[in-house]
Order: sequence, then C-alpha cells, then structure tokens
Amino acid sequence: MENNAAEFPDGKQQHIPLLTPYKMGIFQLSHRVVLAPLTRQRSYGNVPQPHAILYYSQRTTKGGLLIAEATGVSDTAQGYKDTPGIWTKEQVEAWKPIVNAVHAKGGVFFCQIWHVGRVSHKDFQPNGQAPISCTDKPLTPQIRANGVDVAQFTPPRRLTTDEIPQIVNDFRLAARNAIEAGFDGVEIHGAHGYLIDQFMKDQVNDRTDHYGGSLENRCRFALEIVEAVVNEIGADRVGIRLSPFASYMESGDSNPGALGLYMAESLNKYGIAYSHMVEPRMKTVGEKTECPESLVPMRKAFKGTFMVAGGYDRGDGNEAVVEDRADVVAYGRLFLANPDLPTRFELDASLNKYNRDTFYTSDPVVGYTDYPFLETTA
Ligand SMILES: Cc1cc2nc3c(=O)[nH]c(=O)nc-3n(C[C@H](O)[C@H](O)[C@H](O)COP(=O)(O)O)c2cc1C
Repeated sequence: MENNAAEFPDGKQQHIPLLTPYKMGIFQLSHRVVLAPLTRQRSYGNVPQPHAILYYSQRTTKGGLLIAEATGVSDTAQGYKDTPGIWTKEQVEAWKPIVNAVHAKGGVFFCQIWHVGRVSHKDFQPNGQAPISCTDKPLTPQIRANGVDVAQFTPPRRLTTDEIPQIVNDFRLAARNAIEAGFDGVEIHGAHGYLIDQFMKDQVNDRTDHYGGSLENRCRFALEIVEAVVNEIGADRVGIRLSPFASYMESGDSNPGALGLYMAESLNKYGIAYSHMVEPRMKTVGEKTECPESLVPMRKAFKGTFMVAGGYDRGDGNEAVVEDRADVVAYGRLFLANPDLPTRFELDASLNKYNRDTFYTSDPVVGYTDYPFLETTA
C-alpha cells in the first residue's frame, strides 16, 4: 500500500499506524498487516496445489508480508491430512508457481517450516512407525478443530540424543528447499505444541540428557535449529514463531514468562529477521481470553523485528504499533476471510465473517478462495 492515510467523509485524512511502511531488515514492507500462517489442508498428498496460487495471490499486496501455512520438513513431520511439505523435489517444484504469483504482485513470502512431533498418528508416518518426540509420553485424544471429531494419536517414540542432529538437519534442508522454491525466507514453527515446542515446555519434555531439564537445555533444540537454518540461508531470511504461554496439545510450561524471555534474549545472538510471538490471551485454541500476562518483556528484550499475533482486530493492531508493543501484526482468521484485509483496514470497511466449518475442508474453492473482495460485497 503506497497510501497510508485514508480519506474520511469530512475530507480529513487519518493516519493509520498499521498501514505505515516498515523496514524488516532487508525487506522494505509497505505496511504492517501480515498474513499469519494458516493450515488449510488442501495440499493433496502433501503436495501444494495450483489452487493455492489464487489463494495466496488474493492475499498479496505490494510490499506486504505473507507467511505460508505450516509446511512439513520431512516424511516424519506430518500429523494432518493434506498439509504441504517441502522435503521432496516434487513439493519444491509445486511451490514455485505459488511463490512466483506472490512475487508478481510484489509480496514478500516466508514459508513456515514445521514438524508436528507427537501430534501425529502412525497412519501419517513412514512404514506406520511411531511419531517422534522429545518424550514417549502419549498425547490424549483431542477434539478436532471442527469441534466434533476426535483425533487419536499414536504414542511417540523418544528420540535418542544422537538422532537429534538429524532432525535439526531436516529443518536446514527444508530451509534450503524453501529458498530453492523462491521463498524470501522461512519461519521456524516453534509454537502450538509441535515438536520444537514439545522440547521447550516442561509439561512435555522429561529428558535427562542435555536436551532436557533446565530451561537452557530445553531450548537447545530450538536454538540449534535456528543456528543451522541461519547458517544455511542467512539470518536476514529467518524468523521463528513461539507461543510460550499456550498449552495446546498438552504442551504447557510452568514458567512461560521465563521461557519467552530466555528465547528472546538467546535469539539476539543470531540476528534473525523477526521473532513472532502468539499473545498469551490465545491460551486456548481459537478463543481470546483477557489475561494479565503480556509479551512486552519479550518485545523489549528482542532486538530485531517483533511480530505479534492472536485475536487482533484493526483497533488493537493500531494500538500495538503506536504503543510500540509490536513492529508488525499477523492476522489469521480475519485475513482468511478477508483477502483484501489491508484495504479494508485502510477504509475502515466492514469485514467478512470467517466460517470455521470450512477452515480445514478440502474443497479447492469453498471457504478458500471464495471470500468476497470489498468491491463485490456491496
Ligand atoms: C484455520 C487455521 C489454521 C492455522 N494454522 C496455523 C499454522 O499452520 N501455523 C501456525 O503457526 N498457526 C496456525 N494457526 C494460528 C494462526 O496463525 C493465528 O495465530 C491464530 O488464528 C490467532 O490469530 P487470529 O486471532 O488473528 O486468527 C491457524 C489458525 C487457524 C484459524
């Protein structure tokens, strides 16, 4: 968006903090409204599909930042049907036209690289083997996001200490592949109860080697991945997402404030592009609850770009920028339902409502690319 001021009926222009330019390291962003990573389960057989070209390009603005949906780093990384991967040549080739379409409209596109760890079932694993984790503690069955079905998980196999470098290497190779596919960078998925979060959180990690026990030990895996990925593709192209306060998938921590702060401080030495943190108010999946905790200590400790997400609307996104609690704000459900979200924020226009029922259905159009643009809603 070249324009960061909206016309108001009385002719006055109003300055909109979210729509001011921002320099995120080597990337000159024209505004601060970021597409949050959103799993859509429409990548049949783990291969990104041509319909994603339209989906992502609908949400692209010139100089806007998009984060792709969580994308598996290896054949053990999957835990849901039809989520994309980036470990095979076919997957890399399939991402290329999607990334090209975003670039053709001037967007900046990061790929979220992901390993689910124990949030999986043997049916998603090679040769029907057990999912891997930092632990062998099983996850109890969980109600799926549709609120009806129950997901069953196969008890995980605890990684041995000498297997861990191989998983770190899978993240490194996935980052290399993402660059090969044309992405501008990667976001390491260290949030929401998946593998990296399983290592970090003391509710899950019960290891006795140097990847378990103390806070420093529990964060070692995450930081080794950051280091490997930075060495592979350069710090300017690396972000990480963390949710210290969340306890999704039975992955909670007894001292999330200390965990978040330790990570923010430790990340400084790698000089990465951004740190993306999920608000403590998103403790429960999909629900916003007010709470006394805050990301401000982590914002203050982290020296690079600070991105926040979780329950933001136009008003409190603007406030977060004005009050310097964030540099950029990621929007999930609102951006899913409003492909032209930055324009709607600019005009303070009404928003389409999201439909939860079609978040994870596999239709290539319905609930995916059929949310109307402003011009067609009137
Ligand atoms: C349909 C859907 C899919 C999601 N998939 C991912 C994902 O792949 N990776 C991730 O880190 N978060 C994922 N999230 C969480 C969002 O990125 C975001 O943090 C969350 O929706 C809260 O932000 P919001 O209130 O703006 O929607 C998902 C959320 C939704 C609703």
